[in-house]
Amino acid sequence: MDKIKVGIVNVTGYAGIELARLLLKHPDVDLVSGTGRSAAGQKLADVFPHLTGVAELTVESELGNVDFAFVAMPHRESALEVMKLMERGIKVVDISADFRLSNPDDYNEWYGFTHPSPELLDKAVYGLPELYRKDIASANLVANPGCYPTSAILAMAPVVKNGIVEEDIIIDSKSGVSGAGRTLALGSHYSEANENTSAYALKGHRHLPEIVQELTYIGGEAVNVTFVPHLVPMTRGILSTCYASLTSEYISHDNVQEEITAIYREFYKDEPFVKVVDASPHTKNVWGSNMCHVYPFADVRTGRLIVVSCIDNLVKGAAGQAIQNMNIMSGFAEVSGLEAPPIYP
Ligand SMILES: NC(=O)c1ccc[n+]([C@@H]2O[C@H](COP(=O)([O-])OP(=O)(O)OC[C@H]3O[C@@H](n4cnc5c(N)ncnc54)[C@H](OP(=O)(O)O)[C@@H]3O)[C@@H](O)[C@H]2O)c1
Repeated sequence: MDKIKVGIVNVTGYAGIELARLLLKHPDVDLVSGTGRSAAGQKLADVFPHLTGVAELTVESELGNVDFAFVAMPHRESALEVMKLMERGIKVVDISADFRLSNPDDYNEWYGFTHPSPELLDKAVYGLPELYRKDIASANLVANPGCYPTSAILAMAPVVKNGIVEEDIIIDSKSGVSGAGRTLALGSHYSEANENTSAYALKGHRHLPEIVQELTYIGGEAVNVTFVPHLVPMTRGILSTCYASLTSEYISHDNVQEEITAIYREFYKDEPFVKVVDASPHTKNVWGSNMCHVYPFADVRTGRLIVVSCIDNLVKGAAGQAIQNMNIMSGFAEVSGLEAPPIYP
């Protein structure tokens, strides 16, 4: 199969530059264009020296001639770029939240803007391959899931789908500071974030409607979700600990742990990037990779299921999953360009 020409709008953010790192070594594509106001006209490797000797690209102000595009902009700005690309007939994976929610009113409520192209929301496919692989394959526009939602949905999908837990779910997530992006902000200064851990957005984080939308869809019943994100002093990684009561039928089973582990293993048995592990995972176990590790634990004392999941927010939570979606949309092997194992220590 011929290589396709791909581009990134914008390559100068954390999600964009992580896309560049992975795409530059992808065997089925040529990264030919990347935009960014702050670096337009400069060599990508001069702005991002970790790509010295790897990237020849010069950052542009407009995307060049490409067959496929990734958009990695702040919300609302992303939608405007996606609209232009769709008019040019280019297939797109959007890494922002702008096409993840199916109800346009949610954008007013949660993101504070009126969606500029609500008609595209129906056409966009939610890009979680483990659930929507078939729809992704025929899509022209894929909405890459959020980082927190990826970890939470992959943790809970097997039991929500099989009706094994009550619809009242608590998701407690910890994220590294790169989740907040490269744009300067007080909360991500070293002296604010280092030696510090805090919960935030208790009134409702923007990823909450996305988690509720997807878990409701998977289980076919409305779910009640409490989602509390935390910022922890590390660069990459998300760890989500999810809690839900087991249904009364399951609590009484003698071998409930074995049964639940078997359900998770069956659900993810053919998945290259989701592994059901035998002990509570660490963010370092997936660092720099497209892997998600999931550990379900039946707490028989309380009758609750506890599921711990880990991803790298910039890979399975952003750039890696976007490339996985591109691979599916383009008919490449799904793992193409994503096979490097995690980095340790
Ligand atoms: N970081 C993560 O872990 C993560 C995970 C999943 C999804 N996402 C989503 O991915 C998108 C990008 O996130 P990020 O973390 O890469 O952010 P970021 O590091 O802050 O980068 C934002 C990018 O957008 C450009 N930009 C900023 N403000 C702009 C504006 N008003 N108009 C046009 N361009 C603007 C910046 O480039 P110039 O200033 O050079 O133009 C930069 O390239 C966001 O929608 C975010 O929610 C991020």
